[in-house]
Amino acid sequence: MKAWLWGGEAGIDHLRLTEAPDPVPNEGEVVLEVDYAALNPADRMMAERRYPYPVYPPTPHVLGRDGVGTVVDVGRGVKDIHVGDQRVLLRSDVGLLRWGMFAERVSIPAINLAEMPVGWTEEESSGASVGYLSAYRALTMWEPLEPNSVVLVTGASGGVGVAAVQLAAAMGHTVVALSRSEAKRQRLKELGAAFTFNPEDASWPTRTKQALNPQGVKLAVDGVGGGTLLPQVIEAMGESGRISLVGNLGGPVTSFETGTLFSRWLRIGAMALSLYTPEEHRAAWQNLLGIMARSGARPLVDSVFPFEELPQAFERLASGPMGKVVVKVRP
Ligand SMILES: NC(=O)c1ccc[n+]([C@@H]2O[C@H](COP(=O)([O-])OP(=O)(O)OC[C@H]3O[C@@H](n4cnc5c(N)ncnc54)[C@H](OP(=O)(O)O)[C@@H]3O)[C@@H](O)[C@H]2O)c1
Repeated sequence: MKAWLWGGEAGIDHLRLTEAPDPVPNEGEVVLEVDYAALNPADRMMAERRYPYPVYPPTPHVLGRDGVGTVVDVGRGVKDIHVGDQRVLLRSDVGLLRWGMFAERVSIPAINLAEMPVGWTEEESSGASVGYLSAYRALTMWEPLEPNSVVLVTGASGGVGVAAVQLAAAMGHTVVALSRSEAKRQRLKELGAAFTFNPEDASWPTRTKQALNPQGVKLAVDGVGGGTLLPQVIEAMGESGRISLVGNLGGPVTSFETGTLFSRWLRIGAMALSLYTPEEHRAAWQNLLGIMARSGARPLVDSVFPFEELPQAFERLASGPMGKVVVKVRP
């Protein structure tokens, strides 16, 4: 098979499209012929050796933790999946500690696969799992929100952000979405955001509070963070607000005044998909598919690149897409 192999050197330009051995399924695994694979910032962080925690697979390695494929081989002990079935990969060690989706074939534990979502295209399904599972967890990791609470989403045009906007709106909440792009802010309103602001305009926390008065932000889903944005997110929170930290694209927070948390009884907590078991991911996936089905929302695909153009797809991801960047692996 052909696969994008990574030898462990820092940088996307060290990925090579080359021949690699075909996978053989171990017990409990199935081999998928990959139809579509989708990119995540975590793939780039791995390739650039700046993953948030030092978990590195043996090399050569194949990246890619999202995608859909068609079953071509079934290992011993797998009961409910058959050759010819199409499946979507749910968040797992695939692409992280074991070979991932940027290959023509991949062997995956059956427990990490789910049926294709009804009514979604292959492209839409291929990039949904990491983003929607992250958003769902970030929205539900605290005590349940009261109906029509206010949810703030930073980096709202990204994979996690779009999912959080759609899910929070579908759950009946008022969504405040941040994006640096005017065109994306417009699109976010179409996706369900009631208010949108530019995070580079330092007055956004004040304007958010004015717009929401007297109700404050109850929950923030923050995939950006960093020394500038996180203090502003804290400033925008209402009483007893909760901040779900999902990512740190904004860089480190070098100085932090903990006193800002006391007066409004705020809580900050990390969401980590790696904490959840495959069974928990499957249950969350079913829940979020139900929420999406009731609202009619579907994943947003920014662009689809040919398999051979994976490096260009990574460039697109770095340039600030709206929704998911996908590669078509099947010829
Ligand atoms: N904890 C977990 O288990 C987990 C799971 C999934 C993802 N993550 C992390 O969550 C973060 C978001 O993931 P994603 O897939 O949504 O990423 P993404 O698709 O790249 O989108 C992130 C969005 O954030 C905005 N952004 C990027 N850099 C920024 C900066 N320096 N300052 C302000 N805004 C910035 C951009 O929107 P605009 O250009 O429109 O402003 C961008 O579209 C990543 O760090 C990812 O690794 C963590």
